[in-house]
Amino acid sequence: MLTVVSFILSYLIGSISFSYLITKKIKKIDIRKTGSGNAGATNTMRVLGTGPAVVVLLLDVLKGIACILIARAFGLPDWAIVVSGLLAILGHDFPVYFGFKGGKGVATTIGVFFMIFPLFALIAGLATILIIAVTRYVSLGSLFFLLFTPLLGWIFGHYSWGVLTAAFIIALLAYIQHRANIVRLIHGNENKLGHKNAQA
Ligand code: G3P
Repeated sequence: MLTVVSFILSYLIGSISFSYLITKKIKKIDIRKTGSGNAGATNTMRVLGTGPAVVVLLLDVLKGIACILIARAFGLPDWAIVVSGLLAILGHDFPVYFGFKGGKGVATTIGVFFMIFPLFALIAGLATILIIAVTRYVSLGSLFFLLFTPLLGWIFGHYSWGVLTAAFIIALLAYIQHRANIVRLIHGNENKLGHKNAQA
């Protein structure tokens, strides 16, 4: 029963789209209809600038952290804790309050992965910052972090198959959400950080 409550709560918390709410409040526009069309921190930076983007990033990360903390407080088994994180990310990507059109789930995944794989997420996170700083492609850094964190957990950690399976499903979901970014990266025309005119 508590497992179902945790899953539902996680989905509802994940569905709170901070980039949508903050952009609507400050600029009276729908973030999903501007820039890359993604309801996330990177697009908030294009639309509103660095300050609001950092706020969105932190709040979206917190959604992931909060759902893992709730699942842990409920005393759920380890696999169900990660699935609660997955439900938060699904909420972020397909928010019930905003017509099921949300973001790509990176920030919320950062929160979940930092709670599940703290050391590996830190290592992958530092490498990600370097990748973004050098290439200016946030999507490339995101894709690296999303796969590399559970990969490190699998190779060097002692996680159950349930945790690893749920974590790789989270990574797969994010790759599917980034499909247009992946095509642009392959063609060399992906949006770079700092460029205002982004392709959807
Ligand atoms: O957080 C999503 C990021 O990886 C890419 O965002 O807006 O450039 O598609 P965007």
